[in-house]
Order: sequence, then structure tokens, then C-alpha cells
Amino acid sequence: MKATQQLDFLNTKPSKLVATNHGFPREPYLTTNTGVLFNADCLDIFGTIKSETVHCIFADPPFNLGKEYKNGLSDQLEQEAYLDWTKSWLSEAIRVLVPGGSLFVYNIPKWLIHISGFLMDKMAFRHWIAITMKNTYPRGNNLYPAHYGLLYFTKGIPRVFHKLRVPIPVCRHCGKEIKDYGGHRDKLNDAGLNLTDFWEDTSPVRHNKFKTRVSNELKPMIPERAILMSTNPDDIVLDPFGGGGTTFQIAEKNRRYWIGMEIGPCEPIVERLQYFVNAKFGHLSGDELRACFVSDATTSEATAQSQTTLTYAIREARKKIAERKPKLKKKRILRSKKQVAEAKTKKKK
Ligand SMILES: C[S@@+](CC[C@H](N)C(=O)[O-])C[C@H]1O[C@@H](n2cnc3c(N)ncnc32)[C@H](O)[C@@H]1O
Repeated sequence: MKATQQLDFLNTKPSKLVATNHGFPREPYLTTNTGVLFNADCLDIFGTIKSETVHCIFADPPFNLGKEYKNGLSDQLEQEAYLDWTKSWLSEAIRVLVPGGSLFVYNIPKWLIHISGFLMDKMAFRHWIAITMKNTYPRGNNLYPAHYGLLYFTKGIPRVFHKLRVPIPVCRHCGKEIKDYGGHRDKLNDAGLNLTDFWEDTSPVRHNKFKTRVSNELKPMIPERAILMSTNPDDIVLDPFGGGGTTFQIAEKNRRYWIGMEIGPCEPIVERLQYFVNAKFGHLSGDELRACFVSDATTSEATAQSQTTLTYAIREARKKIAERKPKLKKKRILRSKKQVAEAKTKKKK
């Protein structure tokens, strides 16, 4: 696509991308042949989804590291507030999964420990997948972090599990195989090696060159492996934190239905779907996705409750930040030259 065409496309009003007869309780931002995207808070949309309707959830939430997502929400909540919010959307995720459905949560180990603890008595643990972080950085008095985690849980016994294979790794300079497999090279399957729970052949984020937005985007390989190992074609995949739309691209590519939510700008998702999979907007076919939603927009009791917790958590976190600000200012004023001189003379006296 040429740059000008792309610009024109992005200037298209979102309503034009939506099928007129969409029949969802909330107005989607866009629909494609097999997907629906809502430009909204995920908890709000979760509340309109029926229990036990979705086959796989891939979630890459904000890591609470103070990143700028341009969505008006704080990415630097107090630990308790972040975890309360996390538990709210996790509860909804568990509720909407079909028995045997799979949940993938991508995050840093610090939060995954808590998330695992929360999920442990509600779902069946499958894997903690470590994804190598190539460009690590010093973290004060700690070890250098070198991996992100992808948690994989299922709602009871997994309904689908496909063993995936990966190409036999070769040196990127000379093209020769890196390992000798202890003399058993001839016993290897031609289709490649079995995928393990340590993914060192990818990186946690997409290279800037390929990104459709300024903020983070995952490498498509990450949701693709999750979706391919845990779903069949025509299954329904949900991503509550759409970002730049990586999961939706992969769902389209692999013929899965998808439900997406993103609270921030959705133009990068539109651009990506148009560019990478040439999705046809406004052409939702079949009732598979509509069947997941309640027929009216009333919020379920569980969601109403979790939303109250979330609103409370965010309000409390903002209050704390607001309370902290004047104190910081005060400290700075005290350190002004005049104050320091006065303080010194007072001390001398
Ligand atoms: C880490 S990014 C996801 C990136 C995505 N996996 C990709 O590859 O493009 C997290 C996204 O969640 C969105 N987000 C944060 N809070 C949200 C909420 N309550 N509901 C829906 N989206 C939310 C942010 O705007 C951000 O785009």
C-alpha cells in the first residue's frame, strides 16, 4: 500500500468500517469477516459476553511500568490497585472461557507470580513459558532480567492441544546447524524440533521497523504459537488488550474468529488488518461471534462488581499520586537556594 493510500484509509471514519446490521449489545469499532473490535474498556465488554463461549484468551496487559499508552489510564498504579484490577479481568476471562479453554497471560515475572497464585485454584496450570529478552538492562541491586513470561492455563482438562514444531536452529552467519544432538541428528523429525517452554528464537517486542504504532507490539510469533497450540480453525479467540492488533492479525491469518477490545486509539489495528491480512471491514459473516454476546447491554452482576473494584482502585491510586505531588513540590521549594541559606543560618544560631 502506498503511503498516501494508507493515510486516506486511516482518515476514514470508524463508523464506515462497521457493518450496519451488527447486532451486538455495544457498537463495535470495526467488524471483519471473522472478527469484532470494541474501542472500550475490556471490563465493560466482558460484561456483555455470555459465560463459556470463548475458546482461547490471549492477554498482554499493561505491565504497570509507567508506559505512555495515550489511553488516559494510569500505567503506574499502586501494587494493590494493579493486582485488584488484574484479578477483575482475570475473573471475567475465566468466566467466558469454555470448559477446557485456554488462557495465556504475558507479563513480567514480578506480576506473573501473583497472577499464577490467583489462577492456581481456579484453572489448571500448563506452562510458564520463558521468552528471552535480548537487550537486558541493569536493575539496581538485582540480577539483570533476561526473560518475560507467558503463562498458559486451561479451564480444566485442555480441550485442544497441538504439539508445535520449530525449525532446527542454524547459525545466522554460516547457515550451519548450531547443535550436534549428541550424534543423534539422524533421529530428528524432519518437521523440526518440538516446541519447548523456553522461547529463545524470538524477542518480546516487535522491531520498530515493523511496528504499526509507537507503543509496544508483540512479535506475531508469540500469540501465533499460543493460538495454534490451543485452538482449531473456527474457534473463538479473545484479546482484551488489543494494542496494535497482533492477535487479531494472527487470528485472521489462521481462520479463527476473534473478539478484540482496546481502550486506546484503534487506528493502528485498522492499518495492520488492512495491510497484513487485507481484511474486509464491515463484512461479519455468520452468527458465531454474535452468539457469544448477551442480547441486551445490561452489565452482569460479576462485572458490575469488578468494575466497582476497578473504579475504586484507580480512584484510590490517583488520589495517592495527587497527594504525593504537593509533598514533592514542598520538598523542592525547601531545597531552593534561599531556603537552604535560611536553614543554614537558623542552624548556626
Ligand atoms: C501491552 S499493550 C498490548 C500490545 C498488543 N499485544 C500488541 O501486540 O499490539 C496493552 C494495551 O492494553 C490497552 N489497555 C489498557 N487498559 C485497558 C482496558 N482496561 N481495556 C482495554 N484495553 C486496555 C492499552 O491501551 C494498550 O494498548
